[in-house]
Amino acid sequence: MTGSTTGAPHGVPVGPEELRERALGALRAARERTALLTSCVEDSELTAQHSPLMSPLVWDLAHIGNQEEQWLLRAVGGRDALRPEIDSLYDAFEHPRAARPSLPLLAPDEARRYAADVRGRALDVLESTPFTEGTPFAPDAPPAAGGAQAVRGLTDAGFAFGMIAQHEQQHDETMLITHQLRAGAPALTAPDPEPAPAFGGPDEVLVPGGTFTMGTSTEPWALDNERPAHQRLVPPFFLDTTPVTNAAYQRFIDDGGYEEPRWWHERGWETVRKNGLTAPLFWRREGGQWLRRRFGRVEPVPAEEPVVHVSWYEADAYARWAGRRLPTEAEWEKAARHRPDEGRSARYPWGDEDPAPRHANLGQRHLRPAPAGSYPEGESPLGIRQLMGDVWEWTASDFLPYPGFVAYPYREYSEVFFGGDYKVLRGGAFSVDAVACRGTFRNWDHPVRRQIFSGFRTARDATAAELAAELG
Ligand code: AVJ
Ligand code: FE
Repeated sequence: MTGSTTGAPHGVPVGPEELRERALGALRAARERTALLTSCVEDSELTAQHSPLMSPLVWDLAHIGNQEEQWLLRAVGGRDALRPEIDSLYDAFEHPRAARPSLPLLAPDEARRYAADVRGRALDVLESTPFTEGTPFAPDAPPAAGGAQAVRGLTDAGFAFGMIAQHEQQHDETMLITHQLRAGAPALTAPDPEPAPAFGGPDEVLVPGGTFTMGTSTEPWALDNERPAHQRLVPPFFLDTTPVTNAAYQRFIDDGGYEEPRWWHERGWETVRKNGLTAPLFWRREGGQWLRRRFGRVEPVPAEEPVVHVSWYEADAYARWAGRRLPTEAEWEKAARHRPDEGRSARYPWGDEDPAPRHANLGQRHLRPAPAGSYPEGESPLGIRQLMGDVWEWTASDFLPYPGFVAYPYREYSEVFFGGDYKVLRGGAFSVDAVACRGTFRNWDHPVRRQIFSGFRTARDATAAELAAELG
């Protein structure tokens, strides 16, 4: 689906024709996934509310079409609204998720037809719209063709098309979460990841101190919160070479981790007490064994897989129990991207190449994380594995703008979420497509959330003695 990146500096795709092909491939791949997620259950299940945390699947489906209509047909194509009366139904800020089932939503067949109709027209717009040069965030081109809603720079590097493909993939991940929360017979299947060869590396490695380039100003479809590139000073620290496994997390449980307030952030301890938490979401204990429910199937918790479905508070408590801490967002990105030998940041831990199946567990190819230590070809120069894919990794950091941040093309993507209410997650999971995941990609959620495919790895400061030894 993705084109070759040879010839471009550091593999960043630059040619308008290559970007157009990518846009077409990314839009098609997203729609195939949407179709799978909305056709594997009866229509009655599309309108049902499987959890108050989630929209009915049919809301996501029409919302995907409505965002595409607003950005590709109206803003880029200058077309009139197809169904202006439904905009407010599918505005995520007007109706909280729990209230969406009682709205007069499009029925499943109507929603499918609407999304398909929008897509047909969007492909016409794609075909007839030149991809302009430049970066969408410093648009000096005239506004995109036509309509009052045109936003300057949307066609630079085909940004709006890349943004909409990412948006659909993000809602596909949201729908996958709904599938995980749904009760009843399994609806999805996928092959398991290959068994991993034993990982012989160390548990942790030293990431040397110094500045590195965080964020990006060149990645064509990077979203507003990933920009601009800027220098960050990161003191030396140690980082786990793999995500924390279920086996390790069980040791925390067995050691009474959920009964010991000293490990917990004050508000984390409140949620443990109030909700009687004793383990990650979807786990239950039966006859001395931990079982988990995964997409409708119950199975023993696999010891060597990264732990998933933990809140930020659980990750934070585990780290404190282990005598460690969560990495900051800057530490995570430096570990994932910094190339000390080249004095620059790469797009991914393995370099600049687009993610391939040998690099990382992304794109719902599997319905679970791969065992810790998998994907040797995806490791970072320091030997850190699985930074991309498998599980989203909680970081210690609040979701905040980078210096020089400009909201683009709408404030509601990122800006309204900045502040102390959300923690940043990095690296993507098996549930996210490569188009919506990069070394610079920032996800965020409330620290109590655990229905998301969230795990973590831990870090610690380097001691003076260790630094002296390292410097010889
Ligand atoms: C980036 C995953 C936090 O789903 O809330 C989808 C992505 N924004 N539609 C979300 C998003 C608008 C967003 N996250
Ligand atoms: Fe959305």
